Amino acid sequence: MRTQVGIIGAGPAGLMLSHLLHLQGIETIVIEKRSREEIEGTIRAGVLEQGTVDLLNASGVGERMLKEGHIHQGIELQFNGNRHRINMEELTGGKKITVYAQHEVIKDLVAARVQAGGKIIFNADHVSLHDIETEEPKIRFEKEGMGNEIVCDFIAGCDGFHGPSRQAIPNIIRTEKQKVYPFGWLGILAETPPVNPELIYTNHERGFALISTRSPEVQRHYLQVDPNDDIKNWSDDRIWTELHARVDSEDGFKMKEGPIIQKNIVSMRSFVCETMQHGRLFIAGDAAHIVPPTGAKGLNLAISDVYVLSNGLLQFYQSGKKEILDQYSEICLRRIWKAQRFSYWMTTMLHRDVNHSSYEYQIQLAELDYVTSSIAASTSLAENYVGLPFEIPGYNFKMNSASLSV
Ligand code: FAD
Ligand code: DHB
Repeated sequence: MRTQVGIIGAGPAGLMLSHLLHLQGIETIVIEKRSREEIEGTIRAGVLEQGTVDLLNASGVGERMLKEGHIHQGIELQFNGNRHRINMEELTGGKKITVYAQHEVIKDLVAARVQAGGKIIFNADHVSLHDIETEEPKIRFEKEGMGNEIVCDFIAGCDGFHGPSRQAIPNIIRTEKQKVYPFGWLGILAETPPVNPELIYTNHERGFALISTRSPEVQRHYLQVDPNDDIKNWSDDRIWTELHARVDSEDGFKMKEGPIIQKNIVSMRSFVCETMQHGRLFIAGDAAHIVPPTGAKGLNLAISDVYVLSNGLLQFYQSGKKEILDQYSEICLRRIWKAQRFSYWMTTMLHRDVNHSSYEYQIQLAELDYVTSSIAASTSLAENYVGLPFEIPGYNFKMNSASLSV
């Protein structure tokens, strides 16, 4: 097999890259180790930045998101038992976030690729990368016991944190920076009506809690727990008791209980791989960086990385120039480090750290008091939360449908 861009991984990064390149007439093959049902059923993120929403719309895959997603103008921060609203729309000149589940974005992208005759190979085993320092890099994999090889012009490694692509960049030129947090998130999906019109991020002595939503019938909530805890220790009753303890407030606000239809625990880390490219290999999304989920940045960074990469590849195929491709890591990392900073800041401000003294807890409360009472500080939170601009030097890109030949 031969293709222009071989893409490893059918997560948000890989599928969006395949879709954006298709719109520019560039051929791709996506190789995914899981089945279509699995990738369309994995419950993860929910918050889409304004730029992500604009790009999904401009590239023609936003129709269902516009109908079924929930636009939020603000978020609430709760501490000392009181809630404080950050009006993001007002503070950012009209930008908002959309709550629309990641697996729904995946379904929309897979449907668009399938409809356009795009090639996605599911259930691929033993995926490996070869000859990335040459002009003919190759992806090898097994499917139903048979060996296959795809010869490419470029490889995009969009295979998440545990995939093989990052490891294909030689150790000697790869630096990895990371921080592992002593917290985990227990996430649930519950069949209840919405609890609140906007997300609530809660700092509580018993630990962080987050109230989110999915639909009029299903809500998504998270509790800070020990990252090594076993989900079996968390009965539905225990989860509701803990959510009541952390979120119910003095003004009579009370969590709504209902059947829990899904629950799991994830650990939290911050991680950045520098560089994000070597030879003809470019890595994007969680393959290159991880953020703790508190800032809701992971999926959005995956989308901004592949936006840069798609522009670089487009420039190459249109003019033979590699200006953008050569600067791919540099351009992406500028935005990634700012999202790292924001996610780290939100995480440390909102979680209870067992190693902290009452002094550090008081500093968290002062930070929250400051951020909710100062226009300067709340503007900074709002502009980061709705998403910093996508930048491509020399391109002066404005996100509108005219900039993509949809
Ligand atoms: P992935 O989604 O991990 O996709 C990688 C794909 O590659 C997978 O389909 C995988 O099966 C495939 N793959 C792996 N190995 C191989 C292999 N060897 N061969 C072939 N294929 C392979 N982000 C936000 O922006 N907003 C949020 O609100 C948010 N909330 C979150 C809440 C939780 C609880 C969690 C866990 C994450 C959250 N995130 C959020 C982060 C977000 O889900 C990830 O950052 C996002 O999935 C990254 O997309 P990706 O395409 O880079 O990687
Ligand atoms: C959701 C996830 C997040 O990480 C976050 O910060 C806000 C909301 C969610 O899944 O709805």
